[in-house]
Amino acid sequence: MPDVRVLISTEELQARIDELAGAITGDYEGTRPVLVCVLKGAVFFIADLTRRLPFDLEIEFMAVSSYGQSSESSGVVRILKDLDTDIEGRHVLIVEDIIDSGLTLQYLTKSLRTRNPASLEIVTLLSKPSRRTAELECRYTGFEIPNEFVVGYGLDYAEKYRNLPYVGVLDEAG
Ligand code: IMP
Ligand code: MG
Repeated sequence: MPDVRVLISTEELQARIDELAGAITGDYEGTRPVLVCVLKGAVFFIADLTRRLPFDLEIEFMAVSSYGQSSESSGVVRILKDLDTDIEGRHVLIVEDIIDSGLTLQYLTKSLRTRNPASLEIVTLLSKPSRRTAELECRYTGFEIPNEFVVGYGLDYAEKYRNLPYVGVLDEAG
């Protein structure tokens, strides 16, 4: 896959996930939180993150989809797969691959808040702050990146490249 330029190496990813895990452990140890993985992009991140969290927790999966074919998020989000558990009174941490406009997570957090969790926070591996249009509070951010389309470590372009062990920039000529 030579058309992908490395932006964040495997080593950098793992070192930063160590730090995030340390912060999350300090905040959540003993609360038995529910970590919500947003499919599919966050699968690699939640797998590496939770293996560094040395306390009881639960893992849940959600799948959401924006309406339409556009690569721009519309902010109108459909829940394709919902949680298997009731989160009322639980400490919930949403685990996301990347926040771009923020519209997807803004919708998701609004929706989950109506279920009355004890707390609701977000950890995202990547963030493109220059693209943010939605008001969104993110508790933990792995890396802030420039406004470039990235793939790998769970992130795809047309379902390709998720299996790269690093985060890279897709060369448009590729
Ligand atoms: P938002 O609603 O604009 O924040 O969109 C977030 C979603 O768009 C992410 O969960 C990804 O699925 C997708 N996305 C945004 N930027 C990228 C990118 O650079 N590469 C791959 N997917 C992206
Ligand atoms: Mg996503």
